[in-house]
Amino acid sequence: MSYAMIAAAPGPADVLTRTAITIPTPGAGEVLIRHTAIGVNFIDVYFRQGSYPWPQPKNLITGSEGAGVIEGTGPGVAGFTIGQRVAYTKANGAYATHRVIAADQAVVLPDDIPDDIAAAVMLKGLTAHYLIHHSYAVQPGDTVLVHAAAGGVGLIAGQWLAAKGIRAIGTAGGAAKAALAQTNGYTHVIDYRAGDFAPQVRALTEGRGVQAVYDSVGRDTIMGSLACLAPFGTLVSFGQSSGPPDDVRVSHLARASLRLTRPTLFHHTAQPGWLARASADLFDVIRKGQVNIHIGQTLPLTDAAKAHLALESRATTGSMVLIP
Ligand SMILES: NC(=O)c1ccc[n+]([C@@H]2O[C@H](COP(=O)([O-])OP(=O)(O)OC[C@H]3O[C@@H](n4cnc5c(N)ncnc54)[C@H](OP(=O)(O)O)[C@@H]3O)[C@@H](O)[C@H]2O)c1
Repeated sequence: MSYAMIAAAPGPADVLTRTAITIPTPGAGEVLIRHTAIGVNFIDVYFRQGSYPWPQPKNLITGSEGAGVIEGTGPGVAGFTIGQRVAYTKANGAYATHRVIAADQAVVLPDDIPDDIAAAVMLKGLTAHYLIHHSYAVQPGDTVLVHAAAGGVGLIAGQWLAAKGIRAIGTAGGAAKAALAQTNGYTHVIDYRAGDFAPQVRALTEGRGVQAVYDSVGRDTIMGSLACLAPFGTLVSFGQSSGPPDDVRVSHLARASLRLTRPTLFHHTAQPGWLARASADLFDVIRKGQVNIHIGQTLPLTDAAKAHLALESRATTGSMVLIP
């Protein structure tokens, strides 16, 4: 039976309710996907909570990352055939057995990329891609800092940075997460629950600071992140797991001619050709074994609320996947 985990209004995790759906019909330029695996991301939590704009007046099907099989194509679709394995990242609509998306938002999966891996990396891996190649494009000799290093984006970023020869310092909450991050590319991992991370980063860089901080934690870390930056360093603020990072002011950047950027994946995927190029790069580093995908948790789609509770309570490591 076809169903989706639907939220009728913003609220706690248990607003996600299994609801029967009619299998949608693809329109012009669209494909119908039967999901085989769905990625869970913090953005799903923001939408469900209502901290990102609710798509009123509709009920919300959250979920922004998935893999599956093409079951239908609309008029004018070229390059996709029924039965082909595909994956995508697109905001909202993934917590469902079936979904229609624009064909140009899907990528055909190579045979050596399993569905659950694809569902775990399309959003998180492509994010790691643009962070380290675009938001602040790392250079030989750089040292950078990545918060939530044992998380979904964090474990991928650490390995990718290591593959590029970059010295990456990570932060993680607790000894077990720190140990996991340490085996996934990070040269040093600071348990930021045990003490201030900024002085430790300064000490690890002989007082110089880092060339970039990739900060997805937000409110709790943003001021410390600024303090870690070397002159002309870049603060990449790309998430708010602990709350909005709104304490930063333009005047704070004057301390060392710092740069601040607040990027979003979907602006990158909207660039013509970017999705195809970046996903090919991503599959390539996975294929070469430079980036191994850690799926820390796999749950049935009907347990989406449990998945959200785990993510919100910092109980997860790596990626989490839901199976319809
Ligand atoms: N802008 C973009 O394009 C983009 C794309 C993808 C993801 N993101 C952002 O990147 C972040 C990571 O996403 P993800 O899906 O891979 O999640 P994740 O990193 O696997 O999970 C979030 C982690 O944040 C840390 N954290 C610190 N304070 C927290 C708090 N108060 N509540 C909950 N978690 C807290 C926790 O790790 P510790 O226990 O180690 O602290 C937690 O495990 C999210 O903020 C997400 O919104 C942004």
